[in-house]
Amino acid sequence: MSTAENPLQRLKDDRGRAREAQDPMAGVAIVASVTPAGEPAARTLVLRDLDSELALFINATSPKMTEFDASETIALVVWLPSIQVQYRLTARLERIPVDVIHDSWRLRPDPPKKMDWVYRDHPQSSEIASRAALLDVLPEEVPTTAPESAVGFFLRVDLLERLDLGQANGVHDRRMYRRTDTDWAESVLVP
Ligand SMILES: Cc1cc2nc3c(=O)[nH]c(=O)nc-3n(C[C@H](O)[C@H](O)[C@H](O)COP(=O)(O)O)c2cc1C
Repeated sequence: MSTAENPLQRLKDDRGRAREAQDPMAGVAIVASVTPAGEPAARTLVLRDLDSELALFINATSPKMTEFDASETIALVVWLPSIQVQYRLTARLERIPVDVIHDSWRLRPDPPKKMDWVYRDHPQSSEIASRAALLDVLPEEVPTTAPESAVGFFLRVDLLERLDLGQANGVHDRRMYRRTDTDWAESVLVP
């Protein structure tokens, strides 16, 4: 094991390279949690860079809110096909202050703004009679403020792994990074 450069900066740089290559995966992560019944659950979420921190924005009416609240950590996968690099992260979640959420919410496109208010009476991921019924309850006007249920989390990453497939000899480069008191410790893993 040896001391490493900050791997979160490396992740940021890699996502930047992927974004330049028009990689549609550059802005998202697959986020896994565990349901109250102990079943795995995974979904794609936008992975945001907020004040130089990684962050997720969700609606608190969704099942993942219960899952996030009940778990000490969640798992995320970032796969960047344009540069052939995968990251796996283990993160603790820290709630983003309400004023920050509200500022950022105002920048959202109109349809998700409207949906955030629909969720008050129709929780995200609940069943609804039909698509027509859903469109019927969509507000006509674009709301100007975020509902209380619009929430977000900073990711506190203590463990991550980087897998680089792009090696000239075909043998993948896989490294694990564990946060120490002052730094990051790097170890090489069998790919
Ligand atoms: C590219 C992409 C980005 C998404 N971004 C978000 C997001 O930032 N927040 C969110 O709540 N759902 C997002 N979704 C929808 C989720 O994948 C999921 O369907 C929804 O959050 C319901 O998940 P749940 O039932 O596990 O709560 C996104 C889906 C895709 C395909």
